[in-house]
Parts: sequence; structure tokens; C-alpha cells
Amino acid sequence: MRVGVFDSGLGGLTTWLACTRYLPTAEYFFFADTAHAPYGDRTAEEVCQYTRAAYAHFLELGVDALVIACNTATSAAVLPLRQQARMPVIGIEPAIKVALQESEGEILLLATELTVRGSKLAQLLRDRDGGGRVRALACPGWMEIIEEQAPDWRVRAQAYWCEHIEPALGAAQALVLGCTHYCWLREEISAWSGGMAVYDGNDGVARQLYRLLLQREPDSISTARAPLSLHFTATAAAARKQAAAAELLRNAGVELRLLPLSSA
Ligand code: DGL
Repeated sequence: MRVGVFDSGLGGLTTWLACTRYLPTAEYFFFADTAHAPYGDRTAEEVCQYTRAAYAHFLELGVDALVIACNTATSAAVLPLRQQARMPVIGIEPAIKVALQESEGEILLLATELTVRGSKLAQLLRDRDGGGRVRALACPGWMEIIEEQAPDWRVRAQAYWCEHIEPALGAAQALVLGCTHYCWLREEISAWSGGMAVYDGNDGVARQLYRLLLQREPDSISTARAPLSLHFTATAAAARKQAAAAELLRNAGVELRLLPLSSA
């Protein structure tokens, strides 16, 4: 069983990791559109166009399902893509529902500019947040610090937190990470915020993927533990991105074989 995972960069690997907990033996293909990142600073039309290009890539690979591991691309492109897609497409959304259920008081959602402006988020808040507890904060520039993986990226990410996010916390008692890049800093964010509950949509996506494939291909589902491997490709700086991906995963305690796409 083949699963495609797509993001503008390395953030979507956090979603992929969640998927491997439910479907460790699936064959995963990761596509990072680094040539066009950050998506959060683009227009919805541009992001739709890039997402269509990623879809064409996965169509050629013959994947059984596509995971859009990018809140921004989901916000801009998942609905039109689903209308034409020949495979199930699962998008990621900010985990507002769980955050509202499990926490009290104000919730601060951190996301990219395009996600915060998007009509999909407005709809989600209308549907789920009648009490107006969720406040959204755009974090332009934060994704780039994480994506670049400079040696001092965590220090720079914390400086960004102190300058741009801490002053905006207000009465927030919980945080929602509405960009998969931020999930690489989940533990740090919890510490920087003084122990606030932190939510993201990765587990929800992974469970949805599992349920969907179980329904469609019950015989090819296996939850047996297996050594992880991932076919990895990026649209710019592919070798550097692959090395950064391996390093990030190693630091997260994940040893895996990263396979270049050509060996697919
Ligand atoms: N990981 C993407 C997301 O979840 C990053 C967006 C960007 O490229 O700006 O939104």
C-alpha cells in the first residue's frame, strides 16, 4: 500500500511520523515543495496550483491515498482537489475541536498568514467555536526558521517566540499548532509557554488515514512493527533537505532509511 505525504517543506514529516504509528508497513512517499515555500506568504491561487502539481506527482506514483500534511495547502486547496482526485485526499486542520473539548478559557491558534486569512478557518470557527474562545495569530517568518535548519534554529525559534508570540498570549490557556512545521517545537513550545496544553492535528490525520485504508483495503493493513523507510523528494535543494530531514528525525529518536525517489 502506497501513501503520499505532501508539504511545502519539512513540517509534514511530523504528520508522516504520526501516520507510521498506525500504519508502519505502508510504503510512504514524501514530497516537499521547497521551491515554493513558504506557502503561508503565497496567494490561495498559487497554493492551489502547487498542490495540483504535487497531486500529479503522486498520481504518477500510483499512491492509494494522499495526505496533505500542510495546514496552509489544506486551507487553500483541499476542497477543489478532492473534486478531481482519483484517490482519497486527507487534509490537516488545526485541532480546534479537541482543544475546545479538553481545555478551558481562551485558546491561541498559531498558523501561517494564509491559513489565518482563509475562509476554511473562518468556517471551522463558525462550526466549532460558538463561544468565541479561539483567537488566531499569524506567525510569518517562523516556518522559515524551522525549515532552514541552521545550527542555531532552536535559539532563533525561541527568540521569535519571545518577540512575536509571548506578547500575544493574553489570557490564553491552551495553544493549537496550526502549521506542521511548528510541531517540531512541540515540547519547547510547551516549556516556553509555562506548561500550556499544546494541540496539533497530526494524530487526527493519522487516524483518519488508518480508518479510510482499513475500509478500502482491509487485507493490506498491517500494524506489525517494521523498520521505517521513506521515499523523500524535494523540489529545491533536495540533497540538503534530505540530510536535514534525516537529522531532524534522528534527533526525534527515529532511525530510518531515507530513500531517494529514484529507487521507488
Ligand atoms: N507546514 C505548512 C503548514 O502546515 C507550512 C506552511 C508554509 O509553507 O508556509 O501550514
